[in-house]
Amino acid sequence: YGDANQKIDYVFKVVLIGDSAVGKSQILSRFARNEFSLDSKATIGVEFQTRTLVIQHKSVKAQIWDTAGQERYRAVTSAYYRGAVGAMLVYDITKRQTFDHIPRWHADKNIVIILIGNKCDLESQRAVPTEDAKEFAEKEGLFFLETSALEATNVETAFLTVLTEIF
Ligand code: GTP
Ligand code: MG
Repeated sequence: YGDANQKIDYVFKVVLIGDSAVGKSQILSRFARNEFSLDSKATIGVEFQTRTLVIQHKSVKAQIWDTAGQERYRAVTSAYYRGAVGAMLVYDITKRQTFDHIPRWHADKNIVIILIGNKCDLESQRAVPTEDAKEFAEKEGLFFLETSALEATNVETAFLTVLTEIF
């Protein structure tokens, strides 16, 4: 997971956006440190973590900004799109409302955006059919994946999809 002495060819800023408790912080924790916690605290304001990867023989430092989903931070959150080249719009597949709220987070159309249905380990509690999300993503021109931060399903692939496309 990254080498401090490595020469960096590119720094890409990517933002994690979506309702509170959909799992944004745990997706980032899984990607940046390969860790997961069930008692994750709600993010206040914004935090970021980095991980350096090699993509097409270049070292790319991914600077991932984790924003607060809680409504009261909404005004601040929108400012975090600044300078971002990618965004991950996250909903929880077990909470329909978090999917219905996706359009309100959808901001800059000039950056690479991936729609992420997280918590796919909770299949028995699914409230958002994969097809609905796939259809929405196609209509809006977004990439789409279902992930589980808990089981580490598709987390790496989701980040690589965005970073490779930016590249
Ligand atoms: P805010 O910071 O308030 O915007 O929330 P958040 O989107 O960062 O959510 P967070 O990552 O803190 O996760 C919320 C809860 O969902 C925590 O209890 C996590 O452990 C849990 N969680 C996150 N990802 C998964 C997952 O893939 N599967 C399951 N089963 N639980 C998850
Ligand atoms: Mg958080």
